[in-house]
Amino acid sequence: MKPRQMVLGTGLGNNFGVHPGAWRMPHVDPGSYTNIDVTVEQARTAERGGLQFIFLADRLFLHGDLATTPPLFAMDPIITLSAVAQATERIGLIGTASTSFTEPYLLARQLKALDVISHGRAGWNAVPSYEPDAFANFGKALPPREKKYERLHEVMQVVHALWGSWEHEAGQPDQAGKFADPEHIRPVNLQGTHVGARGPLPVPPSEQGQPVIVQPASSGYGLQAAGMYANVVIGMPSTIADGHAQRDTVRQAAERAGRDPEEIKFIAFTGYELGDTVREALDGRRALDDRIDLRGPLARLSALLGLRQEFTDPDEPLSPAMLASARAYPGNARSAQALQLAQEGWSPRDILAHGVLDPYPSVVGTAEQAADHLQEWFEAEAADGFLLNFDNYHDGIDDFVDRVVPVLRARGLFPDGYEGKTLRDHLGLPAQYGLDPRITASPA
Ligand SMILES: Cc1cc2nc3c(=O)[nH]c(=O)nc-3n(C[C@H](O)[C@H](O)[C@H](O)COP(=O)(O)O)c2cc1C
Repeated sequence: MKPRQMVLGTGLGNNFGVHPGAWRMPHVDPGSYTNIDVTVEQARTAERGGLQFIFLADRLFLHGDLATTPPLFAMDPIITLSAVAQATERIGLIGTASTSFTEPYLLARQLKALDVISHGRAGWNAVPSYEPDAFANFGKALPPREKKYERLHEVMQVVHALWGSWEHEAGQPDQAGKFADPEHIRPVNLQGTHVGARGPLPVPPSEQGQPVIVQPASSGYGLQAAGMYANVVIGMPSTIADGHAQRDTVRQAAERAGRDPEEIKFIAFTGYELGDTVREALDGRRALDDRIDLRGPLARLSALLGLRQEFTDPDEPLSPAMLASARAYPGNARSAQALQLAQEGWSPRDILAHGVLDPYPSVVGTAEQAADHLQEWFEAEAADGFLLNFDNYHDGIDDFVDRVVPVLRARGLFPDGYEGKTLRDHLGLPAQYGLDPRITASPA
C-alpha cells in the first residue's frame, strides 16, 4: 500500500499576507489588494510546489480598521477563483460562500460553473456565517443557531440535488442525434422551510462531478452537518493532542452519518516565517512587526505571561523579578510557550516574533524545523493535511515551495507532483455526484 502522504494548501486573500504589516513592506505595491495578476502569481507559485489547493476565506462585511490595514475580504472568492482557474492547471480552488443568504439555485450554479471552468478543481467552504455584521448586510438579525443550521441543511441538500440533476447518463452532445438525453436531466422538486428549488440545473458534470465540500471544524450543529456533507474539515487546533481529538471527533461525526471516516480529511491551520537560521526568521517577522503598532500585542503578551505590568524594555529579556512573577495559564499552550521563551532569555519582541499570539501554531525558523513540525503532527495523526498561512505572500509562498516542499518530498511525506487532475484526485476522495443517498434520511 502507498504510504500516507500529507495534503497541503495555502490560504490567500488580500494579496499581502496574514501579517497586518505586510502591505507596508518594501517591494509590495500597496494598491495590489484588488490586483488579480498578483493573486494568480501566488496561486501559480503554490502550483509550482505541487500544493493541492489554495483557499479563500470570506466574511460578508467590511472587516478590519481601514486606517491601518487593507480590507481582508474585498474580492468575491468565487469570482476571484474563476479568474485564477484560467491561469492555472492543476491546483485545487477552494472558496468560501455562506449558506445563510443566497438561494441554493444560485449557489449551485455558480459553484458548479467554477468546477466546470476549472475542469474539476473547485471546492466550496460552506459556512453559515456567524457575525451580526454579515447578517446586517442582508437586512437581517443573526438568527438563533438552530435556525441558521436548519437553513444550512436545506441549502446543502438542495445544492447537492441540483448538482446531480444533470446526470452523467445524459451523455455528450451527438451532432447526428440528441444534444442530451432529457430523461437524465430531471427536476429535483425540493421545498423546505427556508429554501427550495424545482430544478434541474442546466450545468453538466465537471471532470470531478461536482465541487468538493469543505466545512470549518465546530461543535454541535456544525459538527453534525460536517459529518453529513464535508469531504474536508478545516480546523485551528493549538496542539497535537487537540488536533488528534478534533480529527477523531470529525471522523466519528462522519461515521454517525453512515459514512466511511476515510472520506473526510481533517486539515489544520499552521503559519510559517522561514529563514536560514531562527534568528533570520525572527528578524523577518520583526521587520513586519516594525510596521505596526506593537503596544496592543505587547500588552496581550504581558497578560499571557500572567503579568500585571508593562515590559520595561521590549528589546531586553525579562528582569529576574518579572520572570519570578510570570505564570503560564494551565492548559493554554501559547501561554506555556511564551513562558518558556521568556525563561530562555528572549526579549518580549522576540517572543512575539515567535508567533505566540498567532491564532494557530506557527513555525518561525528554518525549513527543516517547518518540515519537522509538519511531520510530527502528520505522523501523530493530528491532521491529514495543513492549511498554510504566510506573514507575507510576496516571498513566503516561494520560500515554502523552494525550501520546505523538497524536504518533505525527500522524507516521502508529500507527493512528487500531481498524479491526478481534479481536486478530488489530489485529496484521494471517492467519486460523489448529487446528494449522498446515505444521508437523505437525516434532517432537512
Ligand atoms: C478554521 C475555520 C475557518 C473558518 N472560516 C470561516 C469563513 O471563511 N467565513 C465565515 O463566515 N466563517 C468561518 N468560520 C466560522 C465557522 O463557520 C462558524 O460559523 C464559527 O466557528 C461559529 O460557529 P457557529 O456558526 O456555530 O456559531 C471558520 C471557522 C474555523 C474554525
